Amino acid sequence: MKNTVVTIRQAKEQGDKITMLTAYDYSMAKLIDEAGINMILVGDSLGMVMLGYEDTLSVTMEDMIHHTRAVARGAKNALVVADMPFMSYQTSVYDAVCNAGRLMKEGRAQAVKLEGGGEFAEHIKAITKASIPVVAHLGLTPQSLNAFGGFKVQGKTEQAARKLLEDARAVEQAGASAVVLECVPAKLAQLVTENLGIPTIGIGAGAGCDGQVLVYQDMLAMFGDFQPKFVKRFGEIGTLMKDAFRKYSEEVKAGSFPAAEHTFKIEDEIIEKLY
Ligand code: KIV
Repeated sequence: MKNTVVTIRQAKEQGDKITMLTAYDYSMAKLIDEAGINMILVGDSLGMVMLGYEDTLSVTMEDMIHHTRAVARGAKNALVVADMPFMSYQTSVYDAVCNAGRLMKEGRAQAVKLEGGGEFAEHIKAITKASIPVVAHLGLTPQSLNAFGGFKVQGKTEQAARKLLEDARAVEQAGASAVVLECVPAKLAQLVTENLGIPTIGIGAGAGCDGQVLVYQDMLAMFGDFQPKFVKRFGEIGTLMKDAFRKYSEEVKAGSFPAAEHTFKIEDEIIEKLY
């Protein structure tokens, strides 16, 4: 069944947990889609895990459109959400609508995600008015890395916790279809979840959220630069891949690959004529 912003809201109402994973290309999107995951996020995390930047700030609209198009071709049933990159919406409401439109029209996303709360309520209103579903992202918002002074858990003081709850209400009021909560204490994420009609999707926010999201390279142990506390490794695929690459290298160097079954035949007479 095709997942939409309507079906994920129904999932919350029925108490069914929502699953989301990142993907950045066609083959991975297809695997994730075929595994029955509800939502695929083309995250601006692609700047770090695909392009090797140290943060997400350098990701462009062109990067996002390029990867979103590939993912959209591989995702039949999963709801494809594309991240709005740094400075594609912060500059003005007009820019926010135009760039969200490009992710839908050129990238073929089915929703967009932007980082921020009440301060972006007008942006969210305008984007949803253009019939583009919005997922808001609260808590640790990686595009604000320099303002936060690092990747840190958010909402730990009374003031910060209140602000997070208010932001969650503000984005729901503005028309957001879901909220990602990143690196937020579990009890606070649960309180936010209970206070909203729209689903919360947690990453480092505990089991009380309506759904969970992970970066696929993290959960498959394919990204060794660092591992956040909230990541569980569901498979040691990085090790399996490295072993396979080494085996391939050994066989090529030893001359055992390609073997006869991997090669194409031609009549000997034809070859002889060429000598
Ligand atoms: O860019 C991304 O992958 C994200 C997730 C970490 C939620 O925003």
